Amino acid sequence: MTTPRIRYGGDYNPEQWPPEVWEEDYDAFDLAAIDTLTIGVFGWSHIQPSENSYDFATLDAIVQRAVDGGRSIVLATPTGAMPPWLSHRYPEVNRTDFEGRRHVYGQRHNHCPSSPVYQRLSTELADRIAERYCGTPGLAAWHVANEYGGPDGSCYCERCAVGFRDWLRHRYGDLEGLNEAWNTMFWSHVFTDWDQVVPPNALSEHWRGPNHTAFQGITLDYRRFMSDALLANFVAEKERIRRHDPLTPVTTNFMGPFRPIDYHRWAPHLDLASWDNYPPGQRQEVRMAFSHDLMRGLKDGAPFWVMEQTPTITASRDVNPVKRPGVLGLWSWQAVAHGADAVLYFQMRQSRGACEKYHGAVLDHAGRTDTRSFKEIADLGHQLQQLGDAVLGARTPARTAVIFDWDSWWAAEMTDGFNRHVSYLAVVLGYYGALWRANAAVDVVPCTADLSAYDVVVAPALHVVKGDITERLRAVVERGGSVITSYWAGRADESARAFLMDAPGPFGDLFGVRVEETDSAAPGEHNPVTLKLDDTSVTTPASLVFEVLVPEGAEVVGTYDEDFYAGRAAVTRHRTGEGEAWYVGTDLAADGLDAVVRAVLERHDLVGPHADDPHLEVVDRVNDSGCYRFLLDHDRKSVEIQRLSTGSGTPTTLLRTSAGFRA
Ligand code: GLA
Ligand code: ZN
Repeated sequence: MTTPRIRYGGDYNPEQWPPEVWEEDYDAFDLAAIDTLTIGVFGWSHIQPSENSYDFATLDAIVQRAVDGGRSIVLATPTGAMPPWLSHRYPEVNRTDFEGRRHVYGQRHNHCPSSPVYQRLSTELADRIAERYCGTPGLAAWHVANEYGGPDGSCYCERCAVGFRDWLRHRYGDLEGLNEAWNTMFWSHVFTDWDQVVPPNALSEHWRGPNHTAFQGITLDYRRFMSDALLANFVAEKERIRRHDPLTPVTTNFMGPFRPIDYHRWAPHLDLASWDNYPPGQRQEVRMAFSHDLMRGLKDGAPFWVMEQTPTITASRDVNPVKRPGVLGLWSWQAVAHGADAVLYFQMRQSRGACEKYHGAVLDHAGRTDTRSFKEIADLGHQLQQLGDAVLGARTPARTAVIFDWDSWWAAEMTDGFNRHVSYLAVVLGYYGALWRANAAVDVVPCTADLSAYDVVVAPALHVVKGDITERLRAVVERGGSVITSYWAGRADESARAFLMDAPGPFGDLFGVRVEETDSAAPGEHNPVTLKLDDTSVTTPASLVFEVLVPEGAEVVGTYDEDFYAGRAAVTRHRTGEGEAWYVGTDLAADGLDAVVRAVLERHDLVGPHADDPHLEVVDRVNDSGCYRFLLDHDRKSVEIQRLSTGSGTPTTLLRTSAGFRA
């Protein structure tokens, strides 16, 4: 049996090569201290070759070999890719796309979530697999399907239309409620029969793609419905697993900030959050840190798993550069620092054919173990082994929260008006980046989270106002905390309708400000904003959106320098209760965001100890065995892990790595 440590290994599909090669695989796993194998992802067609026949011989052999080799197993249900017979015999399982085209067999991640046939066969298969393999020694988790979503995460077929109508009946009760929520007096859209409601796609409410909808309320509800419909598939498989195995954690691999699916709606149904980390480029430390924190926030800060990352290169991008020396270790330790208790790969050995044949793997086509990349993989395995169980289960304590909200993401980006170049994720990453540079520990949380433990709450572009969020933000400020929001906040209700009041709507009172005009500019155009913060003054280029603010209780911190609103307020601070509410009405450049965010953090003494080194990330994890500090140098690609001693003693260095390489 494996000893407790950060899990290391990944997706292993030896059904694709002969058993002799499996022995080579295991020799290499030993060399790299690999202790966990994810088995069975996408194996549907060989496990169930036809509707009424099952063949577990290959999967049995794979599982047995892993058990004999003393590995932990993450066992997948194979329902993320359908076998040809299923799609051929039951065309209803194939998705209908945004253009309204019913697809035929091909690819993966493309089942219709409303198909009764898919629901029946996927759950029956999950049941059989769970029945057969529950109690397998070393079974660490169940991995249901794979990366739920697919191209735009949606099916638009007739069955989904029926499901949507049911979902709407449940939400609104009657058509009056629905018409009210969707504001259907606009363009003669009053619905008089449920059957008149159709999925919003290119044949109905949309033009120019998924972001251009005539009715945001309809599209928003369809996204919520689709997210719930796919979730129902997951829950149904999980329920069948639970009939046989009441305890082993059940998860599915998420994709970080993946727009089509609201992971906050899913989180309560997972026992463990896990995600696949494929950053879109070489210097992505801020985005990855954010994604880890977002995934950790799904289960209230409990440790999560990195279910996949590439050890070397991806294959799906137009250009797929290799990870530079030291990067694999650095990024893996970054994940651990932010709360990962597993760092797993896609994939253990390269496929021979199909579109991922050049995707990187622990073992390449030749099975070499004398390459630079294998050496780095093996080094990391031994380092993780060396760390043992020290940080397992450790939390990452934070006094700053960033609110991330899928409804705001959807509503802000699918609305005509203002500026189509604004990306909600980019706005949030802008603030997160300023917090990261200031070395502040951050939790990324949903807007329903308990905010009572935070001194600072940053809610960038919180476009949709839901539930009691206004009161909970106010409570943060009243007890002495600080809140920051930005342009486009408080603009829309849960149905994406504007409030019949000044922007920022229900937030206006808390921030002591109203928006008089909203100007926009093309990317690359600027209006400088001068910020006056205590005794310093910073002039920074602002772009994209320029809200002209009228203080109503707030004081002016930043003003526009140019155009007809030169001298008018761009950034305000409302001192109220014991705390402060900051409103940033424009897209500040990084130095402007740094100035605002640091002023707020300083008030709470939350600027980290290494905030002056822009490449050094410092993250703490704490459990009963101690406090562990990760120093991650993203420039030199080096990592140091310390155990901090209680009192004023010097920290003990547990591990130090250095690639000696500068990007
Ligand atoms: C995803 C999938 C894997 C594989 C990798 C390749 O994360 O889950 O099956 O396709 O991407 O990048
Ligand atoms: Zn469908």
